[in-house]
Parts: sequence; C-alpha cells; structure tokens
Amino acid sequence: MFFAPPNATQPDEEPIRQQSKDSTISEFVKVAALTDIPAGASKLVEVNQVRVALFNLDGEIHAIEDVCTHDGGPLVEGTIVNECQVQCPRHGARFDIRTGAALSFPAFEATNTYAVQVKDGEVWIERPE
Ligand code: FES
Repeated sequence: MFFAPPNATQPDEEPIRQQSKDSTISEFVKVAALTDIPAGASKLVEVNQVRVALFNLDGEIHAIEDVCTHDGGPLVEGTIVNECQVQCPRHGARFDIRTGAALSFPAFEATNTYAVQVKDGEVWIERPE
C-alpha cells in the first residue's frame, strides 16, 4: 500500500491528451491552481506515485521529479539560487529547474522533468510514467 506524503496534492480531474511533433501522445493531469505557487515558491504534488516538485520562476511554472539523484533528497525543500537553480537541502547539489540537469557535486545525473501547461489558472503537468 502506498501513502502520499501529507503535503502532497493528488490530481483530481480527468487527464487531457496532447500529440507532440514526434507523434507521441502526452497525457497531462491537473495538479494545482496557479495561485498555489506564487513567484519564487515551490509545491509538492504526486502523480502516479511519483513526487513532483513544481517551481514558479518569475511567473513560469516548471516541474521536476522531487528526487535528488545523489541520495534522494527532497528538491522541493531546497533553496532557489541564481534565479533558476535549486540547491538540495541534504548535501548541496544544484539542479537546473528548467532542464533537470545536475550542475554541481555531489550529484552527477539529471532529475526528470515534466512538461507543464497553465490553462485558466490551473497547472497541468505531463503524467509521469
Ligand atoms: S541527497 Fe541531494 S546532495 Fe545529497
């Protein structure tokens, strides 16, 4: 049995589907209201038992897996630095919030990213596999 973290939000609406240029179908699920994530803030959500950290970088929402690739630290609890990076609260590795790329020791692998759509004040993310 799986238990969601107490501060994680579960999607509550039917997914929408979108075809990309390479003909793959992405499924998006609503995860938050835009007002839940003010500029400079972050929010933890959970989809398909995957923890996803949402970040608002100057009005633009980004979604990355809430897992530091060094040792599983919760990136949603990290500090935003240099306007677009998150510093892991455990050992200080930095990730690019826009791309998921690992930028500093002790993490070397990127964390997953998810496409985001904002429609009518609602935040939708690509459903993690
Ligand atoms: S768990 Fe993130 S830097 Fe170690």
